[in-house]
Amino acid sequence: MKDFILFSGSSNISLAQTVAKTLGIPLGGVDLARFADGEIRPWIQEDVRDKTVFVLQSFSYDMDDHIMELCLMGDAIRRSAPKTMIAVIPYMGYARQDKQHRSGEPVSARVIAKFLEVSKFSEVITVDLHNDAIVGFFQVPVTHLSALPVLAGEIKKLNLKNMLVVSPDVGGVKRARNLAYQLDVAMVVMEKKRYIDRHDKSENYQIIGDVSGKDAIVIDDVISTGGTIATSAKALKDAGAVSVTVGATHPVLAGNAVEKLSTSPIDHLIITDTIAVPKEKQLKNLHVTSVAPLISDAIATIIR
Ligand code: R5P
Repeated sequence: MKDFILFSGSSNISLAQTVAKTLGIPLGGVDLARFADGEIRPWIQEDVRDKTVFVLQSFSYDMDDHIMELCLMGDAIRRSAPKTMIAVIPYMGYARQDKQHRSGEPVSARVIAKFLEVSKFSEVITVDLHNDAIVGFFQVPVTHLSALPVLAGEIKKLNLKNMLVVSPDVGGVKRARNLAYQLDVAMVVMEKKRYIDRHDKSENYQIIGDVSGKDAIVIDDVISTGGTIATSAKALKDAGAVSVTVGATHPVLAGNAVEKLSTSPIDHLIITDTIAVPKEKQLKNLHVTSVAPLISDAIATIIR
């Protein structure tokens, strides 16, 4: 086995600790101090020379800080001659900006890939990118993990009798089809309208398929403002679904998402811990399942 160290940035220390425990190591020592003006000043406190070094950091709130922290940690580590350095990014923010939605906008996901390369990360491990094609934005190898089996395992435990998988938008059909396959049930699609000039605003305006009498399982990659999920749940119940379960990998829960979700007719909300959900955002019907085993296995494969 290769000599390795796992560091954690500040965004999801509990997930990093679980991964470290599964791998049977302590987390590497790093001081994530700041200057008075807010500049991040990471200080690596381990000998990384000739070692395989992993740095786990999700891009959650405050996203830009987390990105900068990871890049600066990368720069600090590579200056001490590690053998190789791998970024473990359970949630890669900016992934939804994977194309120019209108002329004059950036392709932000590509910029993030560039930042990581400039910081000398030679590999990336990540979970459920918004779009599989983002892997192609990286010049370095990417291990793209899927949390769908983990979510499917939790959904099965609910013992729902008449399940039907629902994609809340056309872009999520592949994901929904994969889940439907894993649960061995059928799927339907909803059509979502986005407003290019109104940030984070969407509407579901058509269900393509019959959901009446069904236990609807809505699957999505990200819950950001909660708009997609809340409007889907309402439309499904209005169309006769007997229950609505939501499975989503990344609980961004931005703005007033928690208020929105707590008043929407969702029976079960299953998320993963790619992003740490603070106590005040933990809804009553929330089940959190961990991606730590997935990430630990991916690390174990690289170090063996
Ligand atoms: C969009 O294509 C994504 O898959 C999610 O449906 C979307 O990002 C969720 O955002 P919100 O919670 O703000 O509706």
